[in-house]
Amino acid sequence: MARNQKYSAAQWVPATGNLTALRAAASECQGCELYARATQVVFGEGPQDAKVVMVGEQPGDEEDRRGHPFVGPAGRLLSKAMGEAGLDREKIYVTNAVKHFKFLERGKRRIHAKPSGIEISACRPWLEAELTSIEPELVVCLGATAAQSLMGRDFRITAERGKFFPHHWAKELIATVHPSAILRVPERYEEEYARFVQDLRLVANRVQQLKGAAHT
Ligand code: URA
Ligand code: SF4
Repeated sequence: MARNQKYSAAQWVPATGNLTALRAAASECQGCELYARATQVVFGEGPQDAKVVMVGEQPGDEEDRRGHPFVGPAGRLLSKAMGEAGLDREKIYVTNAVKHFKFLERGKRRIHAKPSGIEISACRPWLEAELTSIEPELVVCLGATAAQSLMGRDFRITAERGKFFPHHWAKELIATVHPSAILRVPERYEEEYARFVQDLRLVANRVQQLKGAAHT
């Protein structure tokens, strides 16, 4: 047995392709220790027939309280960038590599803490179930955690950003930065935001090509 096998969501993941059933089951998950302190699980959201699945890192403070992915500051930036790139958020399934919020307490504030490799691996069965249920044309990794979960630990966003790779849970995968990374460097905001929108335009164009290819 692998060294960290004791942490895995696998036994909570039902053998179903039904997203509603998967979402309901996820609220029971105790596959790693993160469920204990979080308010609730934050499962992915979006249509079953989504052509694009976007994968972030983990819910943030606001997502944890509200129970929905990408509804805080990073989510608002993501929605804005999607709109500018010609992607309709309503048609995209948005989820996270890790489904419970990990944080440090600083007085009244809860500060985001990075999920460990063990937590990312433990939670991967949920991501696999979502992707195999949806069978998207494209999966978009937002940042290193999502990319690590789907492409392995050696994948580097800086080197591989904006390239398309074949993937077993989607036709192709592309990685870009996490929107909160753009918010963290206000002095380079314009430049980083423009590059992010550019990457999302690649997604919008590629999904049209992939959809078209399916019909010929
Ligand atoms: N950051 C993420 O990676 N996911 C969210 O849902 C919110 C912020
Ligand atoms: Fe389960 Fe993932 Fe939550 Fe860990 S983070 S308890 S594996 S849903």
